[in-house]
Amino acid sequence: MTPELERLFEHLRFPSISTDSNHAGDVRANAEWLVKQFEGMGLQTDLHETAKHPIVTARNEQVPGRKTVLIYGHYDVQPVDPVALWDSPPFEPEIREGKIWGRGGADNKGQHFVHLLGAEKMLQEEGELPLNVIFLIEGEEEIGSPNLVPFLEQHREDFACDIIAVSDTGMVAPGVPTLGYGLRGITCLEVKVQGPSGDLHSGVYGGAVANPASAAARMVASLHDDEGKVAVAGFYDDVIALEDWEREMWAQVPGATDGDFLKVTGSSEVFGEPGYSAAELIWARPTVEVNGIGSGYQGEGSKTVLPAEAMFKLSCRLVPGQDPEKIQDAVIAHLKTHTPKGVSVEIERGHSGKAYHNDPHSSFGKAAQVALEKSFGKPPVLIREGGSIPIIQDMKEILGADSLMLGLALPDCQIHAPNENFAVENFEAGIEMSRALLIELSKS
Ligand code: BES
Ligand code: ZN
Repeated sequence: MTPELERLFEHLRFPSISTDSNHAGDVRANAEWLVKQFEGMGLQTDLHETAKHPIVTARNEQVPGRKTVLIYGHYDVQPVDPVALWDSPPFEPEIREGKIWGRGGADNKGQHFVHLLGAEKMLQEEGELPLNVIFLIEGEEEIGSPNLVPFLEQHREDFACDIIAVSDTGMVAPGVPTLGYGLRGITCLEVKVQGPSGDLHSGVYGGAVANPASAAARMVASLHDDEGKVAVAGFYDDVIALEDWEREMWAQVPGATDGDFLKVTGSSEVFGEPGYSAAELIWARPTVEVNGIGSGYQGEGSKTVLPAEAMFKLSCRLVPGQDPEKIQDAVIAHLKTHTPKGVSVEIERGHSGKAYHNDPHSSFGKAAQVALEKSFGKPPVLIREGGSIPIIQDMKEILGADSLMLGLALPDCQIHAPNENFAVENFEAGIEMSRALLIELSKS
């Protein structure tokens, strides 16, 4: 194993699960480890305390007159359950079939570590970097970056930059370099449906009392029409339509046909708003998804109960033009008018983030395209992403800089799921990509 891989393995061994307070110490230890890595490169490095998890920043000498690139990443990871479904322990990384297996490999430790290694290599070989570089690696991305926004607002001048580089997105297929120029936004809700004051015998009372599980099911079902279009009034009002050039371009993207999406997801057919390909639905159309739903008896055999309550969790993916608060309001209004008789609902608003998109043909966009071509041997495809990184639009608003998304996670990388993995070839090409990016950005 190369020394670079050994170091990535050290990074991956920290169970830096940001959502779980039992792991707060591991998150901190991981941040301190990152500080040592940056200090070892001779960068001016800081660990910034926040109300929760620390932010790590590092910078070379900031020379006036040079371009400044901010390289963003996150060292926190998602929980690992169901842990029984992992083929190897999530925090004991190993290499099999050309892939690095372990939580955080792709999302996001492997992907930001290539930038650290690329800069390190350049410093070792050339003594300096061709532009001002600021690394910003946070520990709260997977919980919606609650402390990074106020941090950046307070330290606007320290993080002033011309462009932001992020590798926290996907690559459409092995060997196909991918530049992302858009992300969906997100807004989340949790709904509790209450019926009788306690669980009831379903024979003694059933038939005369509203069942919260049935009520929740009716409410969930009301959110879409039979074809999969969202049925919430006003939901699509502000959507900025996909442009023809994007549709034509995406139809040519390898690894992004409807058949490719069916294969990677194990689904039998594309289901969603009619009139769009799977790529268009994922990259440029908004959704309402049920992330969890529960009520009543779930154990073995039958239990004749009429449950007292039910719950479901929703998240909406948003596209440019949509305002997260407005969409939350529209979904809440819809759920209230679709609450069946005999139950009451309590709706809790969750976190939100706006969608983001930029012009992939800007001078920085072109520089990123050249860097991807130089490191992967062919020109990149240009896509938008279905996932969300809310801080990207926040940084656009706070720092005024756009983000180039140079994704390295393959479609079967299984981020957020058991058996997350990161291709060794992308780790290695990513280090070269990072060096090429610094050079190209310094010229643009
Ligand atoms: N790296 C992902 C986002 C991503 C993955 C974008 C693949 C594009 C392609 C990020 O860590 C993530 O999971 N974001 C969350 C949002 C957050 C607010 C919980 C998401 O998209 O669910
Ligand atoms: Zn993630």
